[in-house]
Amino acid sequence: MKKMMILALLIAVPVASAVADGHAQRADQSRAVVKSFMGGLKGELKGALKSEGPLKAVEVCNIKAKDIAAALSKKHGWNVGRTSLKPRSAANAPDAWERGVLETFETRKAAGEDPKKMEHFEVVMLDGKQVFRYMKAIPTAERPCLVCHGSKLKPEIAAIIDKYYPNDQARGYKAGDIRGAFSIVQPM
Ligand code: HEC
Repeated sequence: MKKMMILALLIAVPVASAVADGHAQRADQSRAVVKSFMGGLKGELKGALKSEGPLKAVEVCNIKAKDIAAALSKKHGWNVGRTSLKPRSAANAPDAWERGVLETFETRKAAGEDPKKMEHFEVVMLDGKQVFRYMKAIPTAERPCLVCHGSKLKPEIAAIIDKYYPNDQARGYKAGDIRGAFSIVQPM
């Protein structure tokens, strides 16, 4: 009996660390994808705000965010997107798992953790299959985020957002708030 337990331990420990390594690798790959998503979006947003003004930037943000997410999803065979507890686009509304993680991000922030480095990953079942899920918090910066997500939107910006997003909830943020999160599903 004792021998078997030792044997089981000898087998279980390497398996557990191999699994942990696999997860660390998936988390690293997720971080890299989030970085390129963020970089792509910031570039598009800054460019549009500068050259064409915030009205055009709303359209750019609307179309480009989806384009970048779709291109990254296709490239990696994953599902890459953004979500929020107060989404602007209904298409970005969180599922139950994402909602739970976003809520723990709020609790972690309230406990003093910096949202800039906040992430969570886990292997879970999704539609009957095991998947690796990764989320990274997106903090709200004063500029440019508050132009479109703050509490005092210019009337012309509010009007165009209302036009595209009649059910917008993503206003009234302050700098430092968690605006939402990147969310990735990797099939295993
Ligand atoms: C020019 C206006 C504009 C600016 C500036 C802007 N956003 Fe947005 N944001 C939008 C629009 C429009 C959407 C909806 C995009 C879509 O349809 O997927 C959105 C959606 C999002 C989402 C996805 C969740 C949701 O609410 O639908 C996040 C997260 C987000 N923005 C974060 C930010 C952050 C962080 C900044 C600052 C770095 C920022 N945004 C700056 C217009 C803007």
